[in-house]
Amino acid sequence: MEEIEKVQALKEKIISLIENASNVNELKTVQETHLSKKSELNSMMSLIRNLNNEDKILFGQAMNNARNEINTKYNEKLNYLNELLIKEKLEKESIDITLPGMNYQLGGINPFYQIQDEIMDIFVSMGYEIVEGPDVETDYYNFERMNIPANHPAREMQDSFYINPTTLLRTHTSPAQAHAMDKANGKPLRIVCPGKCFRRDDDDVTHSHQFGQVEGLVVDKNINLGNLKATLELVLRKMFGEKREVRFRGSYFPFTEPSVEVDISCMECKGKGCPTCKGTGYIEILGAGMVHPNVLKMAGYDPDVYSGFAFGIGIERVAMLRYGIDDIRRIYTGDVRFIKQFKRN
Ligand code: PHE
Repeated sequence: MEEIEKVQALKEKIISLIENASNVNELKTVQETHLSKKSELNSMMSLIRNLNNEDKILFGQAMNNARNEINTKYNEKLNYLNELLIKEKLEKESIDITLPGMNYQLGGINPFYQIQDEIMDIFVSMGYEIVEGPDVETDYYNFERMNIPANHPAREMQDSFYINPTTLLRTHTSPAQAHAMDKANGKPLRIVCPGKCFRRDDDDVTHSHQFGQVEGLVVDKNINLGNLKATLELVLRKMFGEKREVRFRGSYFPFTEPSVEVDISCMECKGKGCPTCKGTGYIEILGAGMVHPNVLKMAGYDPDVYSGFAFGIGIERVAMLRYGIDDIRRIYTGDVRFIKQFKRN
């Protein structure tokens, strides 16, 4: 039938246009001109009028088949072109990850600060407040307020770096006690103060002209030596282990009375005596005592009503004992091989 042949011919033409479309835009143009309502294909429907009933059926089927075939081809091609677009885009936008990254070296936290943090955590958990004092002190706070007047022989225990006749680098964190008491203005207080100290020592395996201390001070009514003992025993066992023996020895500091030096049983030999503890079975760890009445008085406290205890812990000493560090200078020289061993867990 001539009419059906016309439809077939047009179908072939449209399909070949679809097949030749090389991008979505070209394909859309084919759709607009050949698949819309006013297209040549649609207008062919009018040919049906001249046909007899039997041919009408055949012609209608041929039209439907032609439409279906074209639509299928069109959809297939559209999908194919869209996929192609995505593929092209992915290829264009892909990131080249073949360049090796930078190799960052992760350091550790200096054992000095790990120990200082640990001591702070313990005291904060017991309700102490952390305060800080200046590294550059007046002679008045560093010595006078600590009951060490000019010409007092104890000044020689702490050879100092003077900046001018009345100003020096603090030789201990104890002046922070006086600052804290001044601020508390006659009220009870419970503080720890971590910080740097400076003395004119010749540096060697156990001495450094700069070192760290943690000062502690409690002032209140009815504070006694038993409180000092219980507090330091608790803290030292937390830091060095529950089985550690803690020993208090009578000593002398001008700002405490009575004064004690506190030792813990040697971790190497467990108290039997070895080179680490020089055969004594104990290792000295801190100085402490009951706050001297003069120190309280100078801060405006009535020593008949208020009493207190104070202590000073050497941070490097604790770090050296805890980690078996053989030379205090390793803590300061910044050797990565040393510091790398102290990753915080
Ligand atoms: N300030 C003392 C020192 O540096 C330590 C200490 C602090 C002793 C507090 C008693 C009380 O050696």
